[in-house]
Amino acid sequence: MLSWSPLLNRGANLGNHPPRPLTYGAGRVKAGSVTEKRPDLLPPGPAAIARAAEVLRAGGLVAFPTETVYGLGGDATSDRAVAAIFAAKGRPSFNPLIVHVPDAVTAARYAVVDERATALMEVYWPGPLTLVLPRRAAGEGENGLSLLVSAGLDTVAIRAPDHPVAQALLSACGLPLAAPSANRSGAVSPTAPHHVLESLGDRVDVVLAGGRCPVGLESTVLDLSGPTPALLRPGAVLREEIERLIGPVVVAADDPEAPKSPGQLASHYAPSAPVRLEATEAAADEAFLTFGPDRFVRGGAARLNLSTQGDLNEAAANLFHHLRQLDKPGIRAIAVMAIPEQGLGVAINDRLRRAAAPRG
Ligand code: TXA
Ligand code: MG
Repeated sequence: MLSWSPLLNRGANLGNHPPRPLTYGAGRVKAGSVTEKRPDLLPPGPAAIARAAEVLRAGGLVAFPTETVYGLGGDATSDRAVAAIFAAKGRPSFNPLIVHVPDAVTAARYAVVDERATALMEVYWPGPLTLVLPRRAAGEGENGLSLLVSAGLDTVAIRAPDHPVAQALLSACGLPLAAPSANRSGAVSPTAPHHVLESLGDRVDVVLAGGRCPVGLESTVLDLSGPTPALLRPGAVLREEIERLIGPVVVAADDPEAPKSPGQLASHYAPSAPVRLEATEAAADEAFLTFGPDRFVRGGAARLNLSTQGDLNEAAANLFHHLRQLDKPGIRAIAVMAIPEQGLGVAINDRLRRAAAPRG
């Protein structure tokens, strides 16, 4: 069985909520009223999608749900929109962005898609798998991507998200969307609309409030730009599943020769409080993030369980949400129980190790 089964076609719908009147986004781009409060938090019905698409076409920024985490989207063909994403996140400009497209056919406009990429797209797209591929050279095909998206590299990271709101937005705006996770650089990724507001506040024009993200961890990033596939970031599409389709994959972190993701810095995904791993108990002034049956676990000023059943999919979906909940003033550290290094546990532990790494 796949670790990931597509959400689309499972009867998810967009709802049909009336949006509030147009006040920002396109309005801000046209220097609308400075007294208006941003962002607009919209339940993602068809009219809200139409307005978000209008904001994107005018160069504004829209936060939207994907199956992994919320993305901060902007027009990937516009230098100005891409620069606004970097500014909103406080992200270093050497760290490239993922370009979101509806499908493999659209991806081939911007990237060179080889047989390995095609095999993976057929099984995992739309879904939580980002492929780093050679960018199409200017003049070849219709590559209108901003150079800033790739931070000067000759590759582009590309993915088709499997969320009805993300897909509706992509088709309504007709643009490839550059979208990093919708949080300040280095902080915990957002898995609910209020996380976006806490993290980015008025730096975003519209937030499409589509509920909690079902996967809860960022996509797997696989570099296919060289002869040997390299796993740059573990996620819900597992290394062993990729290897079954296209053969051996090197893990960037284990291999000094393997390419690295410019964004995979040691300290990342970090709450304000320090994180302590492999904890078996918590002090009175610590928060305790547990996993598995914990009826007899004591200690900690606050305690949350990632999955009492020991289910790694449930733990992944809860990880960033629970870290944010426990990250409160007065908490000296967040103590985290050991998570098994198997299946989705590999991606969970990757994020936890970065959350616990010394801050730069
Ligand atoms: O699940 C996700 O992937 C979410 C949702 C919104 O789609 N997006 C996300 O984006 O996590 P971001 O920007 O937070 O992480 C993108 C990662 C970074 O580690 C970045 O360095 C890497 O992908 N990346 C982007 N372009 C790359 C490239 N051309 N070569 C190598 N790594 C690249
Ligand atoms: Mg991120």
